[in-house]
Amino acid sequence: MDDIKFKQILKDCGLSAKGIDELNEMLMQSRVELLNAVINFNNDDLNNFAKIKTCMKNSANEISDIFYNRIALIDGLKEKFTIDANLLEQLKLNNADYLKAFFDMKYDENYFKDTMAVGLAHGIIGISPSIYIVISGYYANLIASFALKCCQEIGLGLIDTLKTINSIQKKITVDTTFAIESYYKKSLDDSYKADQKTLGMLMSIAEYKDIDTGNHIARVSSYSKIIAKNLGLDSLHQERIFYSSPMHDIGKVGIPDNIILKPGKLTDSEYTVMKTHCNIGYDILKDSDSHILKDGAIIAVSHHENFDGSGYPFRLKGEKIPIEGRICRISDVFDALVNKRCYKPALSVEKATEIMEKEMKPEKCFDPDCFNAFLKGLDEIIDVKNNIDKDLYLNGV
Ligand SMILES: [Fe+2]
Ligand SMILES: [Fe+2]
Repeated sequence: MDDIKFKQILKDCGLSAKGIDELNEMLMQSRVELLNAVINFNNDDLNNFAKIKTCMKNSANEISDIFYNRIALIDGLKEKFTIDANLLEQLKLNNADYLKAFFDMKYDENYFKDTMAVGLAHGIIGISPSIYIVISGYYANLIASFALKCCQEIGLGLIDTLKTINSIQKKITVDTTFAIESYYKKSLDDSYKADQKTLGMLMSIAEYKDIDTGNHIARVSSYSKIIAKNLGLDSLHQERIFYSSPMHDIGKVGIPDNIILKPGKLTDSEYTVMKTHCNIGYDILKDSDSHILKDGAIIAVSHHENFDGSGYPFRLKGEKIPIEGRICRISDVFDALVNKRCYKPALSVEKATEIMEKEMKPEKCFDPDCFNAFLKGLDEIIDVKNNIDKDLYLNGV
């Protein structure tokens, strides 16, 4: 399968950029070699294939016809195959191509793209993973029965026939695993995209009550990722912080407007109410099954804790404060300082960092390691501050 056709299949699947990257990672030769090593697929197996290669390639279309004609008539499945008038014929052709390539024995990147495409095609038409696994088993048996006939035709002895059938079973197992994994990755990607949609909605809610300048939550999210990167956290952790930090102030939905929108300084009792936004945010997000929303709950409850234990709501100290909260604390304060609020003008970056360093102090308000990571990434952070486009950011989410 060429690159253009493969990209079209990925596009038809509606995969996210992250999902496409993950599927491409599956094509790495080392992964294929690992699967082959596990099942002990070797040159003996290739020699066995060579004996029946011509016969099996000649049977490829017949095998595909028998396979799809049977499963496309099963109650509960047949409606999946009638979504499109040409679907069944296309699946048969793809499958026959795969089988011919199977016996051509060039197991390169293109071959595994074909294998992956077979799995993804079934995902697109809505066949569940469990059904896919079962029909793959039926498919393997069907190929084995044709291989048996081919072995008889060339007069292969019983032992060699059994070895050949065994070789086919091994290769089919590797290929089916590959196809099922791509199928599984597509399912994961579907739920990832659903998470992103939920996140976009939550961000809209957070913004609804956000008195800060328009792009505050988008900027805090990007700053936090930069700090996480400069702190040496792995890329997955950086990404989780990027997606969860926009929810740091989601609890403000539970704070009355007369407090949220008050232009001047809050009274002590108003400030006490305001501080409850941390626990409110935690309560909103904590029971989600999504990792991102669970991380959002942690950030919501911990982004006002100070490193010396003088913050709120739990006066957590040092590393007892989750790292996500320690990072977001810095992003949130920096962005508040360098942007205009209804109660204060915008400060320059120099003045803001001076206040953070000399008045708030790293060891007091901020984790010193996170603060160093912030300073290290300051150029990148300033670039985000000056150039972030909220709409593009949300589309990225
Ligand atoms: Fe907050
Ligand atoms: Fe904030």
